[in-house]
Amino acid sequence: EPEAYQREFDAKIDRGDFIEPKDWMPEGYRKTLIRQISQHAHSEVVGMLPEGNWITRAPTLKRKAILLAKVQDEGGHGLYLYAAAETLGVSRTELIEALLSGKAKYSSIFNYPTLTWADVGVIGWLVDGAAIMNQIPLCKCSYGPYARAMVRICKEESFHQRQGYESLLVMMREGTPEQKAMVQDAVNRWWWPALMMFGPPDSESVHSPQSMRWGIKRVSNDELRQKFVDATVPQAEVLGVTLPDPHLKWNPERGHYDFGPINWKAFWDVINGHGPCNRDRMAARRRAWEEGAWVREAAEAYAEKANRRATT
Ligand code: 3HC
Repeated sequence: EPEAYQREFDAKIDRGDFIEPKDWMPEGYRKTLIRQISQHAHSEVVGMLPEGNWITRAPTLKRKAILLAKVQDEGGHGLYLYAAAETLGVSRTELIEALLSGKAKYSSIFNYPTLTWADVGVIGWLVDGAAIMNQIPLCKCSYGPYARAMVRICKEESFHQRQGYESLLVMMREGTPEQKAMVQDAVNRWWWPALMMFGPPDSESVHSPQSMRWGIKRVSNDELRQKFVDATVPQAEVLGVTLPDPHLKWNPERGHYDFGPINWKAFWDVINGHGPCNRDRMAARRRAWEEGAWVREAAEAYAEKANRRATT
C-alpha cells in the first residue's frame, strides 16, 4: 500500500541512495525534478545565444575554436538534461513548448547582452564559475539520471571557466589600456547578475525546504552564493580588476567576504520577462523550433519507415 512505498522512498533518501526512473516516487518529487531539470536544460540551450554571438568575431582562430567548442558543449549539456527530464515521463515537445509559451523559465543570466569580446571571457570566468558552484552539489542529487548527467557536465564546465579566466589574464597582462578597460566594463556589468544566478535569498526560496528534504538541493542558495564570492574575490585581485561592490570586504569573524545588497527587484523583473534580451532570446528559440520542424518530421518519417521494414 502507498504508505509502504512512501516509507521505502524516505528510507532511500535518508540513506543517500539514488532514486531511479522506475522507482516509486511522490508526485511532488517528480514534478519539481521536471521543473528544475527542464529549466536547467533550457538555460544551457538559451545560454548558447549570447556566446554564439561572438563566434564569427573572435579575435584569433584559437579563440574561435575554443568558443565553438564551448557553445557546442552547452548544446550537449542541454541534450543530456532534456534526456534526464524525459526519464520522468515528459516529452521533449512538451518541455520546449513550456519554454516557448513562457511557462518554463531559464537562467536569468542569459537575458543580458554580450557587448564586447571581454564579455566572452567574463562569462567563462563568472557565469561558468557560478554554474560550477551550483552544479557540483547536484552531482549528489538524489535523482540518479540528473546526478549522473551533472558529473559529465561539471567536467566540461571547469574547462569553460578556465578558458574564460585565461583569456582575461591575457587581456589584462598584455592588452592595451582600452582592452583592460573593456574587461573592467564587462566585470561591472556581469558581477551582480552572476550573484543572482544562485536564486533568491533562502528566506524567499519557495522550493528550498522541500528540495533539501528530498536531497535535490544539497546546499542553499545563499550558502552557494557566499562560496562563489569567497572564491572569486581573490581571482579578481590576481586579474587586477575591481568588483563593483563598495561593501565587499573580508570579515575575519565570519571567515567570509561581506558584500552589498542585491537588487532583487531587478532579478524578478528579468525573470518576469523584462530583461534587456528576453524578447530576443525567446524569438531566437521560437525561430529555431519552427525552422527545425522539417528535420523532426524527416527523422520521424525515417524512423516509421525503418520500423515498418523491421516488422514486415
Ligand atoms: N533564473 C531564473 N529563475 C530562477 C533563478 C535564476 N537565476 N533562480 C531562481 N529562479 C526561479 C526558480 O526556478 C523558481 O521558479 P519556478 O518555481 O517557476 O521554477 C523561483 O525562482 C524560486 O526560486 P527557488 O530558489 O525557490 O527555486 P529552486 O529551488 O529551483 O532554486 C536554482 C533555483 C538554484 C536555480 C535551482 O533551480 C537549480 O539549482 N537549478 C539547476 C541549476 C541551473 O538551472 N543552473 C542554470 C545556470 S546556467 C547554466 O547552467 C549554463 C552554464 O553552462 C553556463
